[in-house]
Amino acid sequence: MTVLHIDSSINGENSASRSISRSIVDRLRAADPASGIVTRDLVSEPLPHLTLDAFADSTVLDEFLAADTVVIGAPMYNFTLPTQLKAWLDRILVAGKTFRYTESGPEGLATGKRVIVALARGSFYDAGSPASALEHLESYLRGVFNFIGIEPEFVAADGLNFGPEHREASLNAALGETMLLAA
Ligand SMILES: Cc1cc2nc3c(=O)[nH]c(=O)nc-3n(C[C@H](O)[C@H](O)[C@H](O)COP(=O)(O)O)c2cc1C
Repeated sequence: MTVLHIDSSINGENSASRSISRSIVDRLRAADPASGIVTRDLVSEPLPHLTLDAFADSTVLDEFLAADTVVIGAPMYNFTLPTQLKAWLDRILVAGKTFRYTESGPEGLATGKRVIVALARGSFYDAGSPASALEHLESYLRGVFNFIGIEPEFVAADGLNFGPEHREASLNAALGETMLLAA
């Protein structure tokens, strides 16, 4: 199995999403020690904004297509994903490769892949809460991966900015959840 491990937090070793994504990858590796792990850190090696010329280089797309499982560390910044992660998505949503338009509408072509997203959010965005209308991270990623034929799984740590005790409890709960992920 090939695992592609993506991180996009600017918070280095203090990053919650990086801790969770690392734990998920550790779990996958433990379940299948022969796994090949490919790591792409979108902060230490950022991708430039998309240009038309960028489509000539399919390195990022090929890396995604070659992966059986993709693990993504995705923090919420300003109610949505980091621009570093958006630049990566801009390279994997490619017509004719990961989706196509048919007479009956769009069709996802990246089926058969597992995508697990480690979410880290400072606040709470539960359905029905006042802030839910500002949740453009999980909802966006779900929509994007659904569009290319994938039902993503999420492990979330929420309310991380509600004080150190809450942060620790939330992060520990998310890390515990990674242990329960089906191999
Ligand atoms: C630049 C920046 C913007 C943020 N914007 C939001 C936000 O809009 N909503 C929210 O709930 N938390 C926000 N946060 C809090 C982060 O989601 C939280 O600190 C989380 O732990 C970030 O994940 P990370 O530790 O992996 O970087 C923001 C944090 C930073 C640094």
